[in-house]
Amino acid sequence: MKGIILAGGAGSRLYPLTLVASKQLQPVFDKPMVYYPLTTLIEHGIREFCLISTPKDLARFRDLFGDGSAWGVSFDYREQARPAGIAQAFLIAESFIGNSPVTLILGDNIFYGGDTFHRAFSEFQSGATIFGYQVHDPERYGVVEFDAQGRAFSIEEKPKQPRSDFAVPGLYLYDAEVVSIARNLEPSARGELEITDVNREYMRRGALRVYRLSRGFAWLDAGTTTSLHEASAYVQTIERRQGIKIGCPEEAAFRAGRISLAQLEHTVSRMPNCEYRLYLAGIIDEAKRGDLASK
Ligand code: DAU
Repeated sequence: MKGIILAGGAGSRLYPLTLVASKQLQPVFDKPMVYYPLTTLIEHGIREFCLISTPKDLARFRDLFGDGSAWGVSFDYREQARPAGIAQAFLIAESFIGNSPVTLILGDNIFYGGDTFHRAFSEFQSGATIFGYQVHDPERYGVVEFDAQGRAFSIEEKPKQPRSDFAVPGLYLYDAEVVSIARNLEPSARGELEITDVNREYMRRGALRVYRLSRGFAWLDAGTTTSLHEASAYVQTIERRQGIKIGCPEEAAFRAGRISLAQLEHTVSRMPNCEYRLYLAGIIDEAKRGDLASK
């Protein structure tokens, strides 16, 4: 499966922070925001990435990710001229997708915990897979209604009267049909190609599967200054308490077997002296002692 990270948009809700850098490059505690979704996809076996951002910001992402070899992955960079909708990503990335299944993750969505994603990625065969996460304010999101078998009954974008409490987070899995589905979409009332309309078409075909994310699972969106601050506080709390890092692509690449111990050592040797380097040096020591599996 290939992976798209969508990291464009106007970022207007984070103004004036976004005068300096795009939303997905803002720090969430100790790393750029986009490291979190990137790490999520590396953890689930994605090797080929397409990063989509604005013409202005794309160069910054290139500086940050390079060719991806430090993480044993590759990057294709594509521009989105203006924010015409999440589903436009499939048109922009059409030649990247080819005949492959593809997962799309939003660059401002942070996930932590549980094994539901692992199940969803390993069970995926065709159609579309999305997730349902119980929230107190579903009207802010795509909202899905589904049964115990994961069959969707309804899906709506920001409904005034939500039919369930289950919001749809910004991680989606599709077969290659998604490109032709996106091509046939009409812009919504807000002038965007809606991801919810893609999902509705899969539902119409009886091919939309929903996995419920468990209560302990964390889904944070960092799209406003308050939620950005809260996401940082959350990451700091977990990291301090457990002595681990969330959203560390070097660690994820190493654990997923994307890079060897020697490659990790090489990457770390080029980092300045900082807490991030110290953490990775600890992973290297652990691996050398042979007890990596215990974490
Ligand atoms: O966060 C999950 C929600 O994301 C879903 O529940 C909704 O169904 C989905 O429509 C989306 O809702 P938002 O209102 O949060 O979408 P927003 O316009 O804020 O875009 C989400 C991210 O995608 C944001 O970081 C910017 C980026 N984006 C968005 C659009 C519309 C782009 O890169 N290009 C775009 O054209």
